[in-house]
Amino acid sequence: MIKANEDFIKKIIMKDVEKICARYKISFDEVMNKLMTNLLSDSEFVEYISERYDEEDITRLKKYKDIIKKTKKQIYYELRQYKQDRKKVINIIENISRKIGKEKICDDEVEKLFQELLFMHTSTKERLPWSGKFYATIFKYTGKTRYVLDLGCGLQPISFPYDMFGTDYYVAIDKDPIVIDALSLFSKCRRSCKIIPLQLDLLDSYWRDHLPLYSDQYDLTFMLKIIPVLQRNNKDALKKLSDIPSKYIVVSGNVEALTRYEKIYYRERRIILKYIENVGREIIYEFNIGNEFGYIIR
Ligand SMILES: C[S@@+](CC[C@H](N)C(=O)[O-])C[C@H]1O[C@@H](n2cnc3c(N)ncnc32)[C@H](O)[C@@H]1O
Repeated sequence: MIKANEDFIKKIIMKDVEKICARYKISFDEVMNKLMTNLLSDSEFVEYISERYDEEDITRLKKYKDIIKKTKKQIYYELRQYKQDRKKVINIIENISRKIGKEKICDDEVEKLFQELLFMHTSTKERLPWSGKFYATIFKYTGKTRYVLDLGCGLQPISFPYDMFGTDYYVAIDKDPIVIDALSLFSKCRRSCKIIPLQLDLLDSYWRDHLPLYSDQYDLTFMLKIIPVLQRNNKDALKKLSDIPSKYIVVSGNVEALTRYEKIYYRERRIILKYIENVGREIIYEFNIGNEFGYIIR
C-alpha cells in the first residue's frame, strides 16, 4: 500500500471518524487507526477504492458501510470491557509480578504500579477523584464492616480503604481473568486484610457454591455498576442475585454511559430500583457522586 493511497483513504473516511468520535468516548487517532486497519485488511476493496474514488462516492457502498459498522461494534465492545488498553494492563501486571517476586516485596514502586492499574480500568478511573467522598458516604451508614463481598469487582478492591472499614476479609468476584490476576498479586501485598479474588461468572448459578462464608452473612456487599451490565446480558440474571447473604448492599449505576456521550441515568435507575424492589430490601441512602449514582440498602 503506497502512502499516497493511505492519505486519500484517510480523507474519504474523515467524516465517519469524526462522527464516531462524537458518539463514543475515544480519541480521533484511535478511531482513525482502527478504521484504517479494517479497511486496509481488505486489499481487494482498497484496490477498488483507488481505481474508483474519482468516479463514485465510496462511502455509499455496502462494503464500506459494513466496515464502518464492524469498526463501531469493535470500539463499543472494547470500551465496554472497561479497559482502554488490555495489553498495557497485562504489561503492568507482569511488571508487578516480577517486582514482587518470590520474596513478596511490595515496595513503593509496586504500590505505584497498582495505582497505575486503577487508571486503566474505566470505572475505577472515573471514581478516583471522588473515591474519598464515595467511601466516606458509605462508611457513614455501614460503620465497620469486617466481611466484605464485591460482585463484579473490577479493580475496585485496589482502591478500597481497608483500614477505615476495619475489613478483615474481602471476597472479590469477577469473571475477567486479568482482573483476578491483578487482584491475586494485590492480595499478596495486603497483610492486614485477607483478600480472596475468585474468577466466577455471576450468570452461572454455581458461583454461590464457591462463595466462602465466614459468618452467617457478609457485613457489606458491593454491586457497583454491575446490575445493569448483568441485566443487559441476561434478562434472568438478577433473579440469581436475589438472596445475597449480606447486611448492607451498595448498588450503583452510571449517570452517563462509559462508552458514549449519552445519559443513561433513568434507564439504569429503573433496572436498579426494580432489583431493590424484587429483593425486598430497604433503601437507607441514595447517593449521586461524580458519574455514579446508587443506593445503600439493608
Ligand atoms: C462496570 S465494571 C464495574 C467494576 C467495579 N464494580 C467498579 O464499579 O469499579 C463491571 C465489571 O463486572 C465484571 N463482570 C461483568 N459481567 C460479569 C459476570 N457475569 N460475572 C462476573 N463478573 C462480571 C466485568 O469483568 C467488570 O470488571
